[in-house]
Amino acid sequence: MIDPVLYANHNSLQTRDARYVVDHYFHRLKWRSRENILDVGTGDGQVLFEIALPRVPSDFQKLVAVDIDEDMLSHARSRCKNYSNVELLQLDIATKNLPGRLRANFDHVLSFYCLQLVKEQRKAFENLFELLKPGGEILLTVISNHLVFDVYEKLSTLKRWQPFMANFGDVGPYNRSVDAVQEVEGTLQDVGFVEYKCELINAHHINDFDEFWLWASAVNPFIKKISKEEMGQYKEDYMNEVRKHRRVTIKMKNGKEDTIRVDYQFLVVFATKP
Ligand SMILES: C[S@@+](CC[C@H](N)C(=O)[O-])C[C@H]1O[C@@H](n2cnc3c(N)ncnc32)[C@H](O)[C@@H]1O
Repeated sequence: MIDPVLYANHNSLQTRDARYVVDHYFHRLKWRSRENILDVGTGDGQVLFEIALPRVPSDFQKLVAVDIDEDMLSHARSRCKNYSNVELLQLDIATKNLPGRLRANFDHVLSFYCLQLVKEQRKAFENLFELLKPGGEILLTVISNHLVFDVYEKLSTLKRWQPFMANFGDVGPYNRSVDAVQEVEGTLQDVGFVEYKCELINAHHINDFDEFWLWASAVNPFIKKISKEEMGQYKEDYMNEVRKHRRVTIKMKNGKEDTIRVDYQFLVVFATKP
């Protein structure tokens, strides 16, 4: 699970990419009047309440924001005090028991940088389908590949971190995909979506070293298991794997590591329920 305060303070990549998606893709959606909207994996709520919500039609009837993590939702709750038509709910998007009252209830389902943390992709897409009203649409932003997933895997091979990182494969479902677009589009088709499209976006982020570690810590779902005493060693081993990674470029200044650039790709997924 992710620390909501750390996440809220070190999410510049996520907020930048969310702005990109809102700017470039929201106009492609067929917005209706009196919409019911669902946001999946709301996290601390910044992306939803500060970036996405100001750009959805203001006459929306209801907004439901869900997250698997109650700590994240408590943080998000403090951002939605001004809205009477917003509900925050704890929900695993890959649940086998989707609450009946949520089924076929939404005109749009949005999700920013959540689905790459979900192991059961097929179940998650089935649930997204179930949640929509006929004619409803999904718009998802999903990390396709990023060095963090490779680093988790590398750390899982070190005896010291193996017990904490053994589940590295639960995240980054498309990190090793030969063709993530085809894979996602195949799932969309199998689940019953129509007019689907998945686009792969090349991106990069540049941070100074300290900020990179804070960002990486904030998105690391395994880090809470590492004790304070072991954190220094964990950071050293983590950053050593980062330095070796093929998608990393490090710039030096005065003989010291100054900035780090990471190239990665994300998916933007649209689909309609017939
Ligand atoms: C990287 S954060 C993204 C938060 C926010 N959407 C943003 O763009 O900043 C991912 C969020 O997805 C949530 N999450 C992870 N797995 C989930 C699942 N199976 N169902 C619902 N939420 C999940 C996490 O708890 C976390 O809050």
